[in-house]
Amino acid sequence: MAAKTPENLLWSLPVPSVKELAMKGLATVPARYIRDDVEECTSSDPNQAFLGVPLIDMDKLVNPETRDMEVHKLHAACKDWGAFQLINHGLCSRTVRSMKAKTEEFFNLDLEEKQRWAQKPGSLEGYGQAFVISEDQKLEWCDMIYLRALPLPLRNLGFWPATPHGYREAIESYCEGIRELAVSLMGFIAKGLLGVGGKRFSEAFEDGRYELRMNCYPPCPEPEKVVGIAPHADISGITFLLDCRDVAGLQVQKDGHWFTVRPIADAIVVNLGHILEITSNGIYKAPQHRAIVDRWKERLSVVAFCYPSPDTDIGPAKELIEAGRPALYRTLKLEEYFKRFYDWNLGAVPFIDTLKL
Ligand code: OGA
Ligand code: NI
Repeated sequence: MAAKTPENLLWSLPVPSVKELAMKGLATVPARYIRDDVEECTSSDPNQAFLGVPLIDMDKLVNPETRDMEVHKLHAACKDWGAFQLINHGLCSRTVRSMKAKTEEFFNLDLEEKQRWAQKPGSLEGYGQAFVISEDQKLEWCDMIYLRALPLPLRNLGFWPATPHGYREAIESYCEGIRELAVSLMGFIAKGLLGVGGKRFSEAFEDGRYELRMNCYPPCPEPEKVVGIAPHADISGITFLLDCRDVAGLQVQKDGHWFTVRPIADAIVVNLGHILEITSNGIYKAPQHRAIVDRWKERLSVVAFCYPSPDTDIGPAKELIEAGRPALYRTLKLEEYFKRFYDWNLGAVPFIDTLKL
């Protein structure tokens, strides 16, 4: 009898730890990691190599004297790239330092220790690899741990590592910082998109849903043949990505070309997810992005996915529709949105297209 395979994306099959594989010092990678299904992960268009994701300065957004110009830049960044690096983001530097350090310590623990927090059948959360739904599916060169952090009732501490000491507290403060940042940034995004203060957008993220994914991309003997994370767009409203070290790996697609995001010390990378693509009625794009891996260096990232609160309607903003544009997407609640994503099951049609009217 064929092994039972997950019927939706709330499952993930157990797979080997990539870090353990990497530590074996193999000269070649096992076949299941060779991605003939993904275009080769080298670099971007050499003619456009000078281009990179835009830089947005939170201080300038906050300061009334520079705000209008920076909001304009923010709007252009969301429209043209769907991604930017944010400087002066105001996250507490001690919290960020500790989040990076504890994430690093966690992935350095023995496998048995990490497996205390392993994913379980029927749950996305925990240590392992996300969205593995069949035994012959190609794998990513990445170990990860996925946690729901807010609101509190969704927290499942059974998956929150108790080692290293202080990791849980670091995750908790980091997530609270991200929530505050999302609330304030969403106000400026609304201003750029609609031309008015975005109280409604901000409020939706005040009691929103926040999920964290910590990624470890070990060194790989054949980096060009594998992917760290295959190309995808996030289903979040907005996503914040923190590089734990000065190792590049994230690439964002723009106009068909891949651009490597060079980590800037003290910046955080922001990318829009499908929910903002829908809210903006397609004016903003949730960019395709992927992670490539390095032959010699391990890379670690902390990714925070932010969703609006469950009672928010996910649909094109009414101001945009009233301005005479037809709504491109249906309107639904978060729960229905998630259900549709899990049932989509990595289908052939891009997920966002399944929500088109
Ligand atoms: C993700 C993601 C990229 C990275 O976790 O959704 O896109 O560089 N991560 O870690
Ligand atoms: Ni992503």
